[in-house]
Amino acid sequence: MMTPSDVKATLSFSDGSPSMELPLYKGSVGPDVIDIRKLYGQTGKFTYDPGFLSTASCNSTITYIDGDKGELLYRGYPIEQLAQNCDFLEVCHLLIYGDLPNQEERVKFVKNITYHTMVNEQMQFFLRGFRRDAHPMAVMTGLVGALSAFYHDSTDVHNPQHREIAAHRLIAKMPTLVAMSYKYGVGQPFIYPKNSLSYTGNFMRMMFATPCEDYEPNEVLVRAMDRIFILHADHEQNASTSTVRLCGSSGTNPFAAIAAGVACLWGPAHGGANEAALQMLEDIQRNGGVEKIGEFIKQVKDKNSSVKLMGFGHRVYKNYDPRAKLMRETCHEVLNALGLHDDPLFKLAMALEKIALEDDYFVSRKLYPNVDFYSGIVQRAIGIPVSLFTAIFALARTVGWIAQLNEMIGDPEYKIGRPRQLYVGAAPRQVRPIGER
Ligand code: ACO
Repeated sequence: MMTPSDVKATLSFSDGSPSMELPLYKGSVGPDVIDIRKLYGQTGKFTYDPGFLSTASCNSTITYIDGDKGELLYRGYPIEQLAQNCDFLEVCHLLIYGDLPNQEERVKFVKNITYHTMVNEQMQFFLRGFRRDAHPMAVMTGLVGALSAFYHDSTDVHNPQHREIAAHRLIAKMPTLVAMSYKYGVGQPFIYPKNSLSYTGNFMRMMFATPCEDYEPNEVLVRAMDRIFILHADHEQNASTSTVRLCGSSGTNPFAAIAAGVACLWGPAHGGANEAALQMLEDIQRNGGVEKIGEFIKQVKDKNSSVKLMGFGHRVYKNYDPRAKLMRETCHEVLNALGLHDDPLFKLAMALEKIALEDDYFVSRKLYPNVDFYSGIVQRAIGIPVSLFTAIFALARTVGWIAQLNEMIGDPEYKIGRPRQLYVGAAPRQVRPIGER
């Protein structure tokens, strides 16, 4: 619900055109917004904001970020408390239904998700059409889009029951699909879900068991993976979430909209950064390790080099990403549990972080570690191949995408998303016959 503010903004023009009064709305926390919906109708002008640097594309009750403080809330709860006290499925319930489940709601929700984890047997034949060396994100984009071909009975986005079943199916089936795309890539048989395990324990078993040898989930590693899921579950109107909203605004089915989110997430400036961050650490390690950090930082600072410190910087956080702090802690736990406390990549990451946090280039630009800086080291220690990192991010973010999509569709004011533009191309001109061009 948007609360009008007593304050109004006035937009005036230096050419004598009539000025316009614009209403403001207040957020429950965070910045107010200036409502420009009537701007074009009244002035014939658009606003210009490529990259949405100053534009709120919607109102939402799901996630709040204070980038200056380094604060992240899901439905009002601080991420630190959720990461320490809840499991991923409780967080899914929170994001989808608006609050943490009580005991009874928890049992019901876990059961619903557990009994949707199998995928239609035919999906494996669809998967088998891919090359074995395909990137898992290429496969996941296809598989998630293909769900709409397998689950026709939950594709009407305007039907709340369809939306709920699609939500349960997507949350439940993503681990199965990610594990299948991994098994296919390494040439191992698919492992079916096992209902006696937790959501995350089941995912790890589907990843690491084989028909010849079962996988006993290690509690520390399952907890670490579950935390990765919680930390990545939602992040308000980021690129992939905005993609899901825009795609879904046409009324397309939820599976198609989420597939668009998976495709967007793949990019190295977004979800692909965890893969890129680990590759960067491995490159530095190969080329001399800690000794070579100075040289690497010099390249990062060189404007002609296009080298970036991956896992650093964020559009919204101009302070330490709270998820990065939790991930750093998890990284310690996992490496200790596996007897890898001397892991050279972790040491390199900590040294790199220390130097960057003291360097004026990073300090003046408010560039701090983001969640991806440490999540790659954790996943690698668990045994997840680097090429699967972004698919795991997609698995975790699916719940956020669905919550945001359902919020948009349920809003009576929602309209198809249709940005406008400043046209700077050719003025009207005539097509000349080919011989005269
Ligand atoms: N390394 C070096 N310089 C950087 C970095 C970085 N990681 N990030 C930003 N900068 C510099 C820019 O070059 C720019 O410098 P300038 O003012 O001299 O031109 C300044 O800092 C501001 O950066 P922008 O790119 O304008 O910031 P923007 O908000 O557009 O980009 C982004 C944010 C894309 C995340 C960027 O910081 C980046 O590319 N980081 C590395 C990739 C990464 O880790 N992405 C993960 C994001 S978190 C997530 O998706 C879960």
